[in-house]
Amino acid sequence: MQLIFGTHNQNKVEEITKILPSGYVIKSLTDLNFNTEIEESGTTLEENALIKATSIFNIFKKDCFADDSGLMVNALGGRPGVLSARYAGNQKIAKDNTDKLLSELKGVNDRRALFKTVIALILEGNKYLFEGVIKGEISTSPKGQYGFGYDPIFIPEKHELTFAQLTMHEKNKISHRARAFKKLVGFLKS
Ligand code: IMP
Repeated sequence: MQLIFGTHNQNKVEEITKILPSGYVIKSLTDLNFNTEIEESGTTLEENALIKATSIFNIFKKDCFADDSGLMVNALGGRPGVLSARYAGNQKIAKDNTDKLLSELKGVNDRRALFKTVIALILEGNKYLFEGVIKGEISTSPKGQYGFGYDPIFIPEKHELTFAQLTMHEKNKISHRARAFKKLVGFLKS
């Protein structure tokens, strides 16, 4: 069975392919040569995941899913949240985003935060949402060389190291995205 994943990110495709039940084949937007940007105009991760999945379904008329993720910081009332990619500007520069966040949290003791992924699945015309969360805290300075985005400043709960100090394999065991992917796969298996 073919499922379209509304992404061009090959890492995400590989991550979910590893845990998919046999019989499922993932086609990414790159595989489908679909290069039009879908505007993420929602105000929540749920809305954005649904906007992406619905747009893809309307174009291809096939079973599909899309994800949206973000970092929510308690002391900032949940920011950057849905704006995580472009927190410091539309150029989406990870270092600018982490610098901005660290300067906003300067002197702030409550450093609790969480990463959240929402996946919207459209299967046989029905819509389903799956969510994965990892709690943690924001470090006082960036550390580590792996990963992307806010990884150098996010220390997952029960760990001493940032996401960027963990290997991709270690991060993928506990990440918000891995948890959401597992829920989607559990649903597809049931
Ligand atoms: P996306 O929905 O997966 O594209 O994630 C949106 C933005 O959230 C990314 O551009 C990053 O800034 C941030 N983000 C999401 N997941 C992660 C992660 O696992 N590590 C670091 N940053 C992330």
